Amino acid sequence: MKPAKFIIAILILMISLLTIHHFIGGLSIADEKETVIQVTAKKFEYSPKEIRLKKGVPVVMEFTSLDRLHGFNCPSFKIRSDIFPGKKNLLRFTPDKAGSFPFHCDNFCGSGHEGMTGTIIVEK
Ligand code: CUA
Repeated sequence: MKPAKFIIAILILMISLLTIHHFIGGLSIADEKETVIQVTAKKFEYSPKEIRLKKGVPVVMEFTSLDRLHGFNCPSFKIRSDIFPGKKNLLRFTPDKAGSFPFHCDNFCGSGHEGMTGTIIVEK
């Protein structure tokens, strides 16, 4: 292989790896230094039901379900995620205001769906 072709091959390989890393890393794996808050969902509750955060401090919420598809929707911050069983969904988020903000399940999950709620509490 000529040097020019070799360099091009290496460049293509590097770009491919960076792209793969971007997609896998960006969507499903939290960096070690990120603050991860694990939230599990099951009919018809979240654990924890109260999520305590600090204003201006970025976090990654890691959602998983113990039974079926649920949802997480917090209109005050315009954030949402599906919550699948056997899978982790990440939501990166930095609360920009202090207070108590309700969230709820937005995927119909059965008779208790309407009452499947929780609160994000953001301290200054
Ligand atoms: Cu859980 Cu709807």
